[in-house]
Amino acid sequence: MSGLVAVTGVTGFIGGAILSALSADGWRVRVLVRRNIEIPGIESIHGHLLDQSALTALLQDVDAVIHCAGRVRGARQQDFHVANVEGTARLAHAAAAQPHPPRFLLISSLAAREPGLSWYAASKHEAELVLDEQAGQLAWTIFRPTAVYGPGDRELKPLFTAMRYGILPVPGRTDARLTLLHVDDLVAAVRKWLTSPATHKGPYELDDGTSDGYSWSDIRTLGETALNRRITMLRIPGGLLTATARVNLWLGRIIGYAPMLTPGKICELRHPDWRCNSSTAIQDLGWEPRIRLMDSLRKQSMSLAA
Ligand SMILES: NC(=O)c1ccc[n+]([C@@H]2O[C@H](COP(=O)([O-])OP(=O)(O)OC[C@H]3O[C@@H](n4cnc5c(N)ncnc54)[C@H](OP(=O)(O)O)[C@@H]3O)[C@@H](O)[C@H]2O)c1
Repeated sequence: MSGLVAVTGVTGFIGGAILSALSADGWRVRVLVRRNIEIPGIESIHGHLLDQSALTALLQDVDAVIHCAGRVRGARQQDFHVANVEGTARLAHAAAAQPHPPRFLLISSLAAREPGLSWYAASKHEAELVLDEQAGQLAWTIFRPTAVYGPGDRELKPLFTAMRYGILPVPGRTDARLTLLHVDDLVAAVRKWLTSPATHKGPYELDDGTSDGYSWSDIRTLGETALNRRITMLRIPGGLLTATARVNLWLGRIIGYAPMLTPGKICELRHPDWRCNSSTAIQDLGWEPRIRLMDSLRKQSMSLAA
């Protein structure tokens, strides 16, 4: 592949997977990193999303931008707003101001569909709106992946680990519909976007293509089959979850860390309908999700047995 691609968020779970794939495909990649690290063989611009000089250096002569940096945990609404909304606005504005504006891909989230649920969801929703406002001549596309899992993921890993011990913790209604996406399939969609000639706007919802998603009972059944053991669903009482999330938020503010389990996250976890429709992405991008939850659980089971 030829061309220069700017990528943000490469020190994270999804951005790291995108970086590895693009490098393997032969793209020239330039990344924005705010930590004091060097990535061997990759041109790194040090700075954050609100740092104008870093953005200028990042975007010079690039053909495409993949904006994957984002705040997924935090103790204050402002934390999410600054990183996700302001950060996207500044990056999009800087990209639109280039002499030859690059194509722009925003890794949003299915949560953007439900902005009332949490600070995170609201910030992803607003980021989508500011991209449109700032776009100017930019050809932009929005991906809305559902919950993503795979090597390096920290959010869904505890769930899979618990299933290996025979427990499936259920935070909400057992008949809630969930959707999932393996990180390799998300990366495959990014690769398709990069090589596709058309300008797509989206937002494109992305999941593993399982019709109607999964209920918690489906997940238990798949886990029992793949892991060859009995799994008990453990419904976590709403009051306990809420109390834990409140304490977590309070501690995050006092001690100064970014908590994942907050009251907003509980609202996301308890939302009854995260079904999504990938058919437009499949049709427009020529992408096809290949990894189902069953495949992944079987692989885990085999690696444990080896
Ligand atoms: N994981 C999922 O299930 C999922 C699902 C749908 C959408 N998404 C979206 O996918 C993106 C990546 O998620 P992830 O799970 O890979 O999260 P992650 O592992 O926490 O990685 C987040 C990345 O964003 C960077 N970042 C955060 N705030 C920044 C800022 N102000 N300036 C520059 N860089 C910043 C982080 O840099 P540091 O390493 O310096 O902190 C890190 O590289 C996010 O936009 C998220 O909303 C994730």
